[in-house]
Formats: sequence, C-alpha cells, structure tokens
Amino acid sequence: MDGVAELRAKYLAKVAQAGDAAALEAVRLAALGKKGEVALMMRGLGQMDAEARKSAGPALNALKDELDSAIRARRASLEDAALEARLRAEWLDVTLPGRPRPAGTIHPVSQVMDELTAIFADMGFAVAEGPQVESDWFNFDALNIPPEHPARQEMDTFYMARAPGDNRPPHVLRTHTSPVQIRAMQAQGAPLRVIAPGRVYRMDMDQTHTPMFHQVEGLAIDRDLSMANLKWVLEEFCRAYFEVDGVELRFRASHFPFTEPSAEVDIRCSWEGGQLKIGEGESWMEILGSGMVHPHVLRAGGIDPDAWQGFAFGMGIDRIAMLKYGIPDLRAFFESDLRWLRHYGFAALDVPSLAGGLSA
Ligand code: DAH
Repeated sequence: MDGVAELRAKYLAKVAQAGDAAALEAVRLAALGKKGEVALMMRGLGQMDAEARKSAGPALNALKDELDSAIRARRASLEDAALEARLRAEWLDVTLPGRPRPAGTIHPVSQVMDELTAIFADMGFAVAEGPQVESDWFNFDALNIPPEHPARQEMDTFYMARAPGDNRPPHVLRTHTSPVQIRAMQAQGAPLRVIAPGRVYRMDMDQTHTPMFHQVEGLAIDRDLSMANLKWVLEEFCRAYFEVDGVELRFRASHFPFTEPSAEVDIRCSWEGGQLKIGEGESWMEILGSGMVHPHVLRAGGIDPDAWQGFAFGMGIDRIAMLKYGIPDLRAFFESDLRWLRHYGFAALDVPSLAGGLSA
C-alpha cells in the first residue's frame, strides 16, 4: 500500500527534523492526533473490502507504532540535549575562592573598637566588660567618688527609677567605663591588664556631645608599675592607632578622684587649612585622662595597695574616631543615615589587625 510507505517516509523525516519539544508535538498531532493523517487513514479502512482491509489494517497499526516510538526516542534525545546545554551554561567552578559582597558596612565606632582591641591585645591587654546599668557604688563610691563629691554633679548622670519604698541609691546609666576597673579587679585579682571599651551615658547634647557615647578604659596592675609604663603604653598605642611613627604626647597634671597622681594627655598636631595632622605642628589636642590608680580604688577592687600598683586611663572612642577618620560632627554617628554609613563605614570583612593593617 503506497499511502503507508509515503506517510512513513514523510513523518519519520519530520520527526528527525523537529528541533524542539514544541515542533515535535506538532508533528505528533499531524500524524497520530485525532485528526492526524494516520487516524484519517484508519478511518478509511471501513470503506475497504475485506481483503484490502486485511493487509492495510496491520500495516497502519505498524506505522502507528513505529511513528510513536520514533517520536518518543526523538523526545528523549531532545531532552538530553536541552539538559546538556543547561549544564554547560550553568557551569560553576566550586573550587574558586569566594567573592562575598556584603551589603552593609562596619560603623567607624566598631572599626575603632576593633583597631584598639588589636593594638592593646598585642601589649597583653584582655577585653573586660561591665553592665551599662550600673550600681551607684561601682560607678561612684568604689572609684573614690563619695556621695557629696562634686564629680557626681559634673557627670550629668541618668538615674534609673527606684521601686516605691526602696531607699537605696538608684542605679545609674554608667557615666564612664571606669567601673569596669573595679569589676575586673574583683573578678581577676592582680596582676591584671585589661581594656574595657563600651557605651557610656551623660545628659548632654550639642555638636560635640551626645547622651550616649563610647569610651575605652585601660587598667594595668602589677608589682612595680609607674607613670613611665603608662607613658610607654599610651605612646605605643597612639603610634599604632594613628599610623604615624612620630607621635608626641604631653602629660598635663590634672585631677581625677580615682587616680593619684593624675594626668591629662595631649597629642601634638597641626590644623593647617582645616586639615588635622597628628604628630606634627604647634597645636596640642587632649585625647585622654589617666593616672596611677588611687589606693582606695585598689582596695575597693580587693587588691592590696601596699603590694600592688596600677595605672589607668580613659579615652573617648568617638573622639579618636573623628580625629583619625576626619569626621566633623559627632551627632551623625548615631543618626543611622545610610549615606553617611556608606561613606564613613568600613568593608565588613576587613578585620583590623597589626599584621594585616588596621585601616587599610
Ligand atoms: N573616667 C574618666 C571620665 O569619664 C576618664 C578617666 C580619667 C579614666 C582618668 C581613667 C583615668 O581611668 O585614670 O572622664
């Protein structure tokens, strides 16, 4: 029967040419669909005489089966080819090192805390912590600031609410990081070398003051420490932190209740053309308070002042961040302005270290 041979040749060729799943489906419908050519021929069997039908029937069925399996085979090979192409297009070398692109930045305060932690760790100082809601005793008394001491007024303290009928002194938002000195001494005893970076609070707000700001406390206790050790540690710190070799510090006699003697420390700088340069010029800028730990303070920390001496210092972190990174307004630190954060922030995965570079 000629018709069958023609259909066979025509549709096997079309199946072979079908370039994708949709084209192949169109070929299938044209041949084997309800109104397809093979179906139409099958319907024509009814009009044939019995003899013709006997040979045409099996031939059409065989054609139907053959086309059907040719279409299945073609479909499978098209699917394989599509998968091959996708695997080639989506190929990924999982052995390449990662290239992370974090969306956020590190706040300058966090950056500076990481920097100074790296610097002091290199000199043997561990990080100590204390609560931000602090008892009156730790924040004041233990630091040789008794109830009527004028320093209490100067601190512009935030007081916590007291339960009705509770006549004990109210807790405070710590006004400085110095109470961590007492906590570290009590927890670890002597000898001791710690820094305590963290938040502090005072009722104050203008271009250079915010009600919350950051300090870092330093405390070293040993058998024979003197102001000379303090001076060396602070000079080492400033050299590393400001990343200039020739820093010069000036110690000015001062007074703090918790140190005796006490000194405020200035750093040599210049302000040419509004540009601050550390380590040169004729100006001095105050950067911290310091001194030898008062015997009363050592005793409050459970340390015998006849056997041990210590030096301590306290520094404003926001202030040294502004100095190093040329940030003019302190209040912007705490406004969460994304444009400011993108401009002054640091790459999230560049952890400051003395070996790898602090701010590079
Ligand atoms: N606690 C002082 C303040 O907040 C800073 C300070 C001065 C800390 C001298 C010290 C120090 O440890 O020795 O102003």
